[in-house]
Amino acid sequence: MYRTHTCGELNEENIGLEVTLSGWVQKSRDLGGLTFVDLRDRYGITQLVFNMDKNEELCLEARKLGREFVIQVKGNVIERSNKNLKIPTGKIEIEASSIKILNKSKTPPFTIEDDTDGGEDLRMKYRYLDLRRNPVRSNLVLRHQLSMETRNYLSNNDFIEVETPYLIKSTPEGARDFVVPSRMNPGQFYALPQSPQTFKQLLMVSGFDKYFQIVKCFRDEDLRADRQPEFTQIDCELSYVDQEDILNTFEGMTRHLFKKIKGITLDEFPRMTYDDAMENYGCDKPDIRFGMKFNYLTDLAQNKGFKIFDDSEAVIAIVAKGQADYSRKQLDKLTDYVRREQIGAKGMVYVKYNADGSTKSSVDKFYSSEDLAEWAGRCGTEAGDLMLILSGEREKTQKQMNELRLFMGDKMELRTAGVYKPLWVIDFPLLEWDEESERYHAMHHPFTSPKTEDIDKMESDPGAVRANAYDLVINGVEIGGGSIRIHDRGLQERMFDLLGFTKEEAEAQFGFLLNAFEYGAPPHGGIALGFDRLASMFGGKDSIRDFIAFPKNNSGRDVMIDAPSPVAEEQLDELELKLNPKK
Ligand code: AMO
Repeated sequence: MYRTHTCGELNEENIGLEVTLSGWVQKSRDLGGLTFVDLRDRYGITQLVFNMDKNEELCLEARKLGREFVIQVKGNVIERSNKNLKIPTGKIEIEASSIKILNKSKTPPFTIEDDTDGGEDLRMKYRYLDLRRNPVRSNLVLRHQLSMETRNYLSNNDFIEVETPYLIKSTPEGARDFVVPSRMNPGQFYALPQSPQTFKQLLMVSGFDKYFQIVKCFRDEDLRADRQPEFTQIDCELSYVDQEDILNTFEGMTRHLFKKIKGITLDEFPRMTYDDAMENYGCDKPDIRFGMKFNYLTDLAQNKGFKIFDDSEAVIAIVAKGQADYSRKQLDKLTDYVRREQIGAKGMVYVKYNADGSTKSSVDKFYSSEDLAEWAGRCGTEAGDLMLILSGEREKTQKQMNELRLFMGDKMELRTAGVYKPLWVIDFPLLEWDEESERYHAMHHPFTSPKTEDIDKMESDPGAVRANAYDLVINGVEIGGGSIRIHDRGLQERMFDLLGFTKEEAEAQFGFLLNAFEYGAPPHGGIALGFDRLASMFGGKDSIRDFIAFPKNNSGRDVMIDAPSPVAEEQLDELELKLNPKK
């Protein structure tokens, strides 16, 4: 038997017990007559003590143990004189009677402790060692709990988990596909699924009624803190439902997860239309932990001789409560921030509504104190507040102001950690115009149904058609998205037509789905939540990488196994693939 107990469970009640433990040597301290070793496993740390007076040979042996050696130790649980009340095992220690080295270890490249000296690259290269550290392991434990509770909730609500294939044909979700060459079909490729979208819809045609899958998805897109090339979705689909049924079901699931895992009872999930989100926050995933909504001053600010506002389609203001004492330097910094290339504003106008009732603005030359009072009236500004104004082309200015709002939210510490504000964003447009290809693209995906009352406009005014599509947003993060689907062949064909597919292309790519719709496809809809994003939200971190056991870096590489990598020439020959000799 390797162990009678784990390194996390012994306490004062076990004093006097003879035990066997196995684990890794976290560190040892040699205090002359006594040697202490911290033995670690997944469950915790237990202190071992070796006494020179009592067993010199064993003590000398213990002194030779290096960090991360794997050992088995036998001994007695005794009371500790120097107690550590921070850990559950801190009141006891093991007076060792024997040790056995199960495996030696090289000195690890970084310290395997909560605060490590290892940089990101090194930790990724030795991810299996990084995973020994508590903070990383506990992220994966959290992920496990989330998946168990998700399965519980969905299974208790009659959802059935069905696996769908990974070697498929392209499913358009807006990213590039990863492709896999087929040896048995030379010159032909599978695509890895960007999501199981078409399969889950086919399962509805098959009568499964409620499906879910915690499933890997693959997207070849630019990577960010919240994006990995392979990631996991909680993917769901339901039959005979309308949008309201789906929002309620997944509001229920989100509540269940927060209650079970964090002990938090969430408030109601407000609903906001896409148009309102853009108008008031300049983005489709607003962080509503704080206000600072947009105010439009266009009509008030124009025709007063200030050319920049006169030439602008929109003049938008936000109010930073109680910040009128911002210094010149701080305001310059804000201006530099919005002028950064990623944000692209030309400049920023400010108005300080001082506590004494006076005002000071960067446009005092053009606007009287009455004008500024009028602006304050529109924005609900009070004495002591700071107004920040951007102007220009409407949509661009909204986007820039979104960045400034979030920046101010951070600066003013309004985006409070541990506070969770979920939100449904609904009524997304069906299509978005792509300047580059001069075509409409599906905003969600091509299977999303237009709102019944907008179907008539599909050909005459495609940009105005709204979709039965919704996103679940928590604290400004898009956690999930879904829609009610088209289940009628004719309507699906119209949609493909709008997206610029010829009849033949639509048939070649999606004939299987169009055909299926002719065999009694029920009305259906669904949603997918980003599981990695959900885990990182629960863990209070921005990067999903910390919640994935073996993630890729920002160049899409796994630096531990060194992938991607070239393959042998024979392998390419077998696949009848040739590398471009020019490269
Ligand atoms: P969508 O494309 O919105 O919808 O994806 C659903 C959710 O998956 C997460 N997500 C990602 N997480 C990490 N890395 C990525 N690269 C990544 N891309 C997406 C997000 C997102 O909200 N088939 C539809 C769902 C449906 O209509 O039912 C779909 O995939 O949290």
